[in-house]
Amino acid sequence: MSAKQILVIDEGTTSTRAMLFGCDGKLRSSQQEALQQYYPSPGLVEHDATEIWEKTLRCCQKMVEQAGGADKIAAIGITNQRETVVAWDKRSGEPLCKAIVWQDRRTAEKCDALKDKGLEPLVQQKTGLLLDPYFSGSKIGWMLENVPEVKAAGDNLAFGTIESYLIFRLTGGIHITDASNASRTMLMPLNGQVWDDELLDLFDIPKAALPNIVDCAGDLGATLPTLFGSAIPICGSAGDQQAATIGQACFAMGQTKATFGTGAFILTNSGDNPPKSENRLLSTVLYQLNGERTFALEGSVFVAGSLMQWLRDDVGLIEFAGESEELARSVANNGGVYLVPALSGLGAPHWRADATCTISGLSFSATKAHIVRAALESIAHQCHDLKTAFSADGTDWESLRIDGGMVANDWMVQDLADVLNIPVERPEFIETTALGAAMLAAVGCGIYETLDDASAMISGMSSYEPSMDSADRAHRLAGWQKAIAGVLAN
Ligand code: G3P
Repeated sequence: MSAKQILVIDEGTTSTRAMLFGCDGKLRSSQQEALQQYYPSPGLVEHDATEIWEKTLRCCQKMVEQAGGADKIAAIGITNQRETVVAWDKRSGEPLCKAIVWQDRRTAEKCDALKDKGLEPLVQQKTGLLLDPYFSGSKIGWMLENVPEVKAAGDNLAFGTIESYLIFRLTGGIHITDASNASRTMLMPLNGQVWDDELLDLFDIPKAALPNIVDCAGDLGATLPTLFGSAIPICGSAGDQQAATIGQACFAMGQTKATFGTGAFILTNSGDNPPKSENRLLSTVLYQLNGERTFALEGSVFVAGSLMQWLRDDVGLIEFAGESEELARSVANNGGVYLVPALSGLGAPHWRADATCTISGLSFSATKAHIVRAALESIAHQCHDLKTAFSADGTDWESLRIDGGMVANDWMVQDLADVLNIPVERPEFIETTALGAAMLAAVGCGIYETLDDASAMISGMSSYEPSMDSADRAHRLAGWQKAIAGVLAN
């Protein structure tokens, strides 16, 4: 096995990281910088792509130094927050405006107008997605309509999701996107290798401004020698949720993972054919290797870890995320309090961009602990809604592999097993998103031949068995159904 290391860029919603992995999958070192979130008005969420690039570069340079130089690194793997869109000038690589983040709802009206024209079935049939502001297409359309610098850029205009922008900057001008990220734009058919004219027309997007769609592993380009001392090949790229599915070794049909990061994203491997959801779930490209695609059925919940962050930073109910576990354990039950965390609308299976967060069931007997417990319980409740939708689509979960920062909370993990009534498996190493990107890069540079071989990089798991009384589960879920019905009725 190669003594060289793999450098992973994990560019998430709230921070950017660079991580050094050995070819055995062991994490050697990592460097992280938080990202400024911009909320110009309710429903709007933006990032500064220059800040993302500069912080990513700085983190990578630190890791290259730690590795002992660029020649000690076999390949780079990139994984990223999906759907977020950057517009930039092809000559300079400089962004033309703030990036519009996946959580941003500014295009809700545009999406509703397209729905009113009866276009959602077409979009769903071609892309596996729904007409929701979550996806990149309407965000690109908004920039083209509203940003003078974007309108004026002409032939120099480039659009891309975050991995596309980072690859452009790292290589000094290669404009590509991998198929897993492209499948989140609403502009690429699940069965097509190129952008779709009919979909581009929905938002008046010029094809020349979009990247070429490529595999998730292989020779994707090389970094400019000036950045790290010498060139490093980029050999892996995938959206963060797809990368986590790979990092959890969900390679057989039906295997399912849930990542609890900013949001919660559940993906089930659906094999070689795109799944068709009748229950408001998404079909998406899990990965593309040698031009061949593997697909997934996805349920996207917009708020999970970000709820804890909000309770800590904006509401002040907890001082640190770990305190939520202590508070949840300090009360016997939720005391009738339910929290529906629609802080950026509701995603699957409800898809209500206009929904807002509610806390219901409050009385004088409710304490801070009940509210925090209700917040943690909402994670399992939302996942239960997805389990029901997946099951109605013919996909029953036998167990759920979980990862992401939030799964360090043992109480939340047990509650998930209890409410879903299935075993929940947590890997020893919970950074599976980065690990998945490392696996792709390892395959892309030839250290391993297949992703199956690369699963030698994955560590062991521990399992949590459901232990909740069925009457208690039914009571909890009935309360949740009432709370969510209240939100949907508004
Ligand atoms: O689709 C959005 C998703 O990629 C964001 O991921 O890790 O920031 O929750 P995360």
